[in-house]
Amino acid sequence: MNKYSLLSMDDLSREEILAILEDAQRFNISHSDWQLPNSKALIANLFFEPSTRTHFSFCSAEMQLGCKVSDFNPDSSSVTKGETLYDTVKTFEAIGYDALVIRHPQDEYYKELENISIPIINAGDGKGNHPSQCLLDLLTIYQEFHHFEGLKVLIVGDIAHSRVATSNKIALEKLGALVYFAGPEEWRREEYKYVDLDEMISEVDVVMMLRIQKERGASLVNISNEEYLNRYGLNLKRYAMMKEEAIIMHPAPVNRGIEIDDSLVEAQKSRIFKQMSNGVLVRKAIIKRAFGYKPFKEEECA
Ligand code: CP
Repeated sequence: MNKYSLLSMDDLSREEILAILEDAQRFNISHSDWQLPNSKALIANLFFEPSTRTHFSFCSAEMQLGCKVSDFNPDSSSVTKGETLYDTVKTFEAIGYDALVIRHPQDEYYKELENISIPIINAGDGKGNHPSQCLLDLLTIYQEFHHFEGLKVLIVGDIAHSRVATSNKIALEKLGALVYFAGPEEWRREEYKYVDLDEMISEVDVVMMLRIQKERGASLVNISNEEYLNRYGLNLKRYAMMKEEAIIMHPAPVNRGIEIDDSLVEAQKSRIFKQMSNGVLVRKAIIKRAFGYKPFKEEECA
């Protein structure tokens, strides 16, 4: 595996996470026009699962960096003839691509790609990991609070099927934040620390709501959308209980009126669309790193 691949938040040290966040910030402020010196860099996006935000913010980031970009559609590819993931990826390497962004429904699909030499950026593996989403979440939190140490983050909803929950738990704890979980018992992961949503909501700095992952089999028997919102979601009553400076996050897409009251998606405390904008900045930093370029800060010191 290429050393600049990004597969899981376990791959990154605390210092490497902070360097990516700092680069993302610089893309926002002082280096917005920076492009890869190698304008021939070829990158392909291989999405074996649906995506709007991740796919097109990677496209935007790649094009802003001056990459030549290809989008792979499994339905019109030789995957329909039975070609394996490994052979598909090996083919992209053989025909000259320099890096690949991959989303795939299989947990840890990348473990079968260890022989691939070009960098692979994981855009989501089943219910495993979503490192670029996690980094954009971290950037959003950092922009708000300017630190992570001691911050209280409450992650709410369908924990069992969520790669966002896993990646954020790994990274936030590495950075010194305190992470709590709440949601239906049916969707818990045994090893996580669960709290009562109504008791904790007034204590935390970040309320991160999660989407119900129906495509991974998440379903609750005999519960209406309204009941889900009132038992497990962010409704107006809970919003009123949040600390003044606390923020709402959600990786989106959002099931409005189920995970979160429709009127709260763009409420004053919501950073949901900010997260999406930050996705482009973070993905520029991830691609820059994948091509072996040092963080801007180190370059300036050299
Ligand atoms: N948050 C997220 O991964 O959204 P998409 O599925 O639209 O990429």
